[in-house]
Amino acid sequence: MTAFARTWDLVKEWTPNWRETASKLPSITPTWSRSFKSPYDSNYEALLGDDTGFDEGGHFGIFSHPHDDRFVVKIPRISPPEGKSLEDDAYDAIYDRIRGLTPDGRSYPQVLEELGYPVMSEMDAGLYLIQPRVASEGNSPVLAERNMGGVKGRPPMHVANTALDFMFGDRTPQNFGRDQTGNWRFLDPDVYRADMDYSEFINGEHKQQMLNEDEIQLPVTALLNQLDLFEDNYTPEGRSMLEALEPHSDNPPLLTVGGRPVWREGY
Ligand SMILES: Nc1ncnc2c1ncn2[C@@H]1O[C@H](COP(=O)(O)OP(=O)(O)O)[C@@H](O)[C@H]1O
Ligand SMILES: [Mg+2]
Repeated sequence: MTAFARTWDLVKEWTPNWRETASKLPSITPTWSRSFKSPYDSNYEALLGDDTGFDEGGHFGIFSHPHDDRFVVKIPRISPPEGKSLEDDAYDAIYDRIRGLTPDGRSYPQVLEELGYPVMSEMDAGLYLIQPRVASEGNSPVLAERNMGGVKGRPPMHVANTALDFMFGDRTPQNFGRDQTGNWRFLDPDVYRADMDYSEFINGEHKQQMLNEDEIQLPVTALLNQLDLFEDNYTPEGRSMLEALEPHSDNPPLLTVGGRPVWREGY
């Protein structure tokens, strides 16, 4: 079996109603290891039991969910400052990922996911996050190079990446994974925050022309309407771009590529 076939063979499952399934999973208690001080001094096995850890980034350790391997558990790798407990520090890390909630408790990445953006949101489970599991072959430069193209009729990674312009930072290959249908999804959804108004620098007509090269139409009006629901102090950087783009977009209800809501259909 080739390395790619092996990676592909892993269980992975994004579904439109994954949150409902995930919310029924028994909760787990990360046994905070006092030795879990820095990325280089972590003892992941001690956190969840035997060798369930399978990946890591700069901020989170990633484990198979012990009760359902269609999901992963993301545990903050923390290093509490003087006077802060491990739990406080973990809570801050989680809050950073899910901040800016709508009145009904949905995060910004969740709204984008519902509107057909190539993203997977993360579910707040208290001191950890839950997320559907995908194939994260983007982590290997060799595999990523070979597999960034589209499979199974789905768009290649660069199309997913273009659709997420201004929405998220750090859009490197290792922050994308592929779901069971072959769709690329961004899995490290830290949201851009705007400290300034970019609108005068953004030419909406030009932006739509660039999207047209990949036959992308963004659900601009639908997203702007939902942005109004977010807390007052929450202004994703994408807002100025969306406002400039709105008059030049077809404004479909869901993000489309070639006229189809690619990230919402085929599940
Ligand atoms: N849902 C997932 N399914 C499979 N692999 C994942 C998933 N989430 C993260 N990973 C892997 O773990 C790595 C770190 O996760 P990420 O969410 O990017 O954390 P960090 O914020 O620490 O970078 C990713 O680069 C990816 O390889
Ligand atoms: Mg990452």
